[in-house]
Amino acid sequence: MPEAPEEFALRVAGGVAAGAPEIAESPFEEVPEEAPLEIEGEQGEDPALAFRRTLGMFATGVTIITTRVADRVHGMTANAFMSVSLRPPLVLISVDKRARMNSLLRDGVRFGVSVLADDQRELSDRFAGRAVQDAAEARFTEVHDTPLVEGALAGLVARVERSYWGGDHSLFLGRVEYARWGGGRPLLFHGGKYERLPGEDPNPGAED
Ligand SMILES: Cc1cc2nc3c(=O)[nH]c(=O)nc-3n(C[C@H](O)[C@H](O)[C@H](O)COP(=O)(O)O)c2cc1C
Repeated sequence: MPEAPEEFALRVAGGVAAGAPEIAESPFEEVPEEAPLEIEGEQGEDPALAFRRTLGMFATGVTIITTRVADRVHGMTANAFMSVSLRPPLVLISVDKRARMNSLLRDGVRFGVSVLADDQRELSDRFAGRAVQDAAEARFTEVHDTPLVEGALAGLVARVERSYWGGDHSLFLGRVEYARWGGGRPLLFHGGKYERLPGEDPNPGAED
């Protein structure tokens, strides 16, 4: 067997993942110094906009992040979602500091991640605070006291393990407690617009 890389030779803490460092030992808390951003945009383009456009070239799916607040559900559209680890099962979301969701999440709080299907773009708009006309009510199912969007392609329930400084966002690392998935086509986001996978629509007649 090849030798394990050095980072896996660290002492095991908590016994959750053989050979891996304990999550709480993560050293990424320091705020880095400001460094100038060199960016090539269109002539005269606002650098912040050019940066946004650059990031927007990365195609993603779209999720609704949910959490329960007393007897109410709070949902927020997010495409800054990523898988982190299989063992232990970890995911990461990035939430704007100005978002209400940011003030609701903290260590130990559960959140749901629902991966939207391509016929759920109205839900995406609605939970992004965009005006939607005659939108159908969002329906949720509860797992571990956490709402998940009905009809989504996949659903996860995670508990905030740690949060990190992320500039004007906060990064929430969640330990996944529950996961489910089903078939269907994902809603995509690219270049600031919704997209769908090319090919035959398995749901002809469904709203665009
Ligand atoms: C496709 C799409 C993706 C988004 N992704 C994120 C994201 O990853 N993180 C974030 O903080 N806001 C994201 N937003 C913006 C939030 O959904 C929006 O600010 C929302 O109104 C915040 O909700 P809240 O303040 O009620 O929690 C996204 C919006 C859209 C349309």
